[in-house]
Amino acid sequence: MATIPNNSEPVENANTTWSGRFEEPVSELVQRYTASINFDQRLAEYDIQGSLAHARMLAAGSIIGADDLAAIEAGLGQILNEVRRGQFVWKLELEDVHLNIEKRLTTLIGDAGKRLHTARSRNDQVATDVRLYLRAAIDSIIDLIHALQRALLDLAEAHVDTVMPGFTHLQVAQPVVFGHHIMAYFEMLKRDVQRMSDCRKRVNKLPLGAAALAGTSYPINREMVARQLGFDGVCENSLDAVSDRDFAIEFCAAAALVMTHLSRLSEELILWMSPSFGFIELADRFCTGSSIMPQKKNPDVPELVRGKSGRVNGHLVALLTLMKAQPLAYNKDNQEDKEPLFDTVDTLLDTLRIYAELMTGIRVNREAMREAAMRGYATATDLADYLTKKGMPFREAHEAVAQAVRFANKSGRDLSALTLAELRQFSSLIDGDIFAVLTLEGSVNSRDHVGGTAPAQVSAAIANARTWLA
Ligand code: ARG
Repeated sequence: MATIPNNSEPVENANTTWSGRFEEPVSELVQRYTASINFDQRLAEYDIQGSLAHARMLAAGSIIGADDLAAIEAGLGQILNEVRRGQFVWKLELEDVHLNIEKRLTTLIGDAGKRLHTARSRNDQVATDVRLYLRAAIDSIIDLIHALQRALLDLAEAHVDTVMPGFTHLQVAQPVVFGHHIMAYFEMLKRDVQRMSDCRKRVNKLPLGAAALAGTSYPINREMVARQLGFDGVCENSLDAVSDRDFAIEFCAAAALVMTHLSRLSEELILWMSPSFGFIELADRFCTGSSIMPQKKNPDVPELVRGKSGRVNGHLVALLTLMKAQPLAYNKDNQEDKEPLFDTVDTLLDTLRIYAELMTGIRVNREAMREAAMRGYATATDLADYLTKKGMPFREAHEAVAQAVRFANKSGRDLSALTLAELRQFSSLIDGDIFAVLTLEGSVNSRDHVGGTAPAQVSAAIANARTWLA
C-alpha cells in the first residue's frame, strides 16, 4: 500500500471537523501519529456502502431530503469510481478513510455532503466498515479452504493404498495409508471452515445507530440499514457496538488455528521431502535452490508457511492485549485493530491460495514410503494382537513381540522376514497364518472401521468428504 508523504499538498482547514474547539492546529507529529489513512483506506468501498445505506435510511425517515440523498448517491458513486481507479487522493491531514471520503463528498456536492454524518459517528461507522470488510474476507477464506480441501481429496484419492509408516514421537509406529494421513488434514480444515462460519454469524451484526456511544436522538431505522447491508441483525447495545472488537479477535483465533494446521502440514512436507525421508517431491515452481550448494532444492514455501503462523499468532495476541484494559466505550486504541487484522487476512488468503496449488504438484515416492514402513517394525502391534486373539493376555503378547523385534533387529530383518520356526521361539501360538498379519497390507486392511486406515474406509471417508464439500 502506498504510504502518504507528510509533504502532500496541505488541506485547507484540515481539522474543520473539530477545529472550532481548538486554539491551535494539531502538531505535525501528532497528525502523523494519530492518522490511520495509510492503512484504513482499504476500507473505502465498505465505508461508501455503509454511507449509502445510512443516507437512504435518513431520507426514508425524512431526516434528510430526497434531494440530499440524490446528491449523496451521485457523489459517493463518483468517489467509488475514483477509489477503484486509484485516482482518489488520500490526505494524511484528513486522518482516516471516513474523513477523507466525507471531505471529498462535501467538495463535490456541498451541503448535502455535510448532512450525511447526521445521526452517525465515526465510532459506529468504523465498526460497521470493519465488520463488512471481515465478512467478505471470511467468505473468501472459506472458499479458499474449500479449494485446498479439494486438492487434498484428489491427493488422498490417488493414495488410498499407498502404505507409509505412521509415526508417534516421530518414530515408526504402525503402517497407515498416505490417503488416510492426508485426510487427517481435511478433517482439521473442515473444523476450520466451521469455526469461520460460526464466527461470521457474530461478525454479521450492524453497529450503525450506536452513534458515538449512546445512540442518537434522531428517529433512525436500524433494521432498514441492516437489511440493506446484508447484516443478520443489529448490535443490541450501543456501548458494546462501538467498543468491542471480540468478533475480530475471534476471527484471528480461528485464523491462528488454520495457520497452525497448515504449519503442521508444512513441517511434514519439509520432513518428507528431505533426502533422509524421500517420501515426496514438490514441484520445482514451489522450491528454490541454494546460491552455494548446487544440489539443493529447498522447501521455502512450506518453511514460510510455518514461519508465518508465528506472525498470525502474534496478531491474535496483539488484539487480545489491545482490548483487555479498555474502559467502555470507544477508545482510540481500537484504531490499532486494523493492521493486525488486515495482515492476518492477507497472510491467510495468500497461504491458502498457494497451498491449494502446491498440493496438486506433489509427487509421491511409494517405494520410499513402503521401505520406511518395513524398516521400523511397523507391524509389531499386529503380531501382539494376533497372539492376544489366540488367547494370550495382551501384556504378555507385548513382551513376546518385544523379544521377537529384538531378535529380528540383530539380523537386520523385518518381522515378516523371520521364518516360522524363528517366530515360534517367542510363542507356540504362532502358526503359518501369521504372515498375512505381518504384511503391511494385512495390517492396514485389518483396521477396517470408521476412522481406521483400511483403504476401504479411507475411500469411504473421501466419498463422505466430497458430499460435505458439495
Ligand atoms: N480511525 C478511527 C478508528 O479506526 C475511526 C474512529 C475515530 N473515532 C474517534 N472518536 N476518534 O478507530
